[in-house]
Amino acid sequence: MKTILAIYSSVSGDNSVSNQLARQWIGQQDARVIERDLATDPVPHLDGATVGAFFTPADQRSDDQTDRVALSDTLVEELQSADTLVISAPMYNFNIPSSLKAWFDQVARAGVTFRYTENGPQGLLSGKKAIVVTSRGGMYKDSGFDFQVPFIKQFLGFIGITDVEVIYAEGVAMGDEARAAAVNDAEKTLEALSA
Ligand SMILES: Cc1cc2nc3c(=O)[nH]c(=O)nc-3n(C[C@H](O)[C@H](O)[C@H](O)COP(=O)(O)O)c2cc1C
Repeated sequence: MKTILAIYSSVSGDNSVSNQLARQWIGQQDARVIERDLATDPVPHLDGATVGAFFTPADQRSDDQTDRVALSDTLVEELQSADTLVISAPMYNFNIPSSLKAWFDQVARAGVTFRYTENGPQGLLSGKKAIVVTSRGGMYKDSGFDFQVPFIKQFLGFIGITDVEVIYAEGVAMGDEARAAAVNDAEKTLEALSA
């Protein structure tokens, strides 16, 4: 059985378009599901002590450093165990919610999820696919002002996840008709995908 890791980041909970779309699709899959709602259960932003702990070899870490790395290790293990990563992400101020950026910062671990080689960076996660469900009040796809999807793809590629499908629900603040059409289109595109 496949494993889906679902990462939710909207602050709107059950009313969130991206959460509803992602949850509906996940509910149709025959898979084990690990869920993280970063809005209700945020992961901490990085600080100097945590970055210092990341770069200290495991056998030389203090108790405090070991504690600081423990959550990151758990998040990385969840990601490593997943066949399919589902990221549910509203556009906030042209980019991802800061809670999702905090999760990215916790799972980008040198020597664990990526490494630098003489040929440049190499992602250490392989064989995974990602489905990104993004909802926006306006229309930003391919506009030059979508700093969200290019960033998510760059980040996932950096850690080795290059098979990325993006589902857009755009214009959800542009009237009831536009919202319904956007959700309908997104549902149809999702229907064609499997975990
Ligand atoms: C704090 C905040 C910032 C937002 N910034 C943008 C934005 O930059 N561009 C946009 O099109 N919509 C923006 N919106 C609208 C949301 O993208 C839209 O309501 C979307 O449906 C939210 O996703 P959700 O329904 O999954 O929560 C913003 C909404 C909030 C609450």
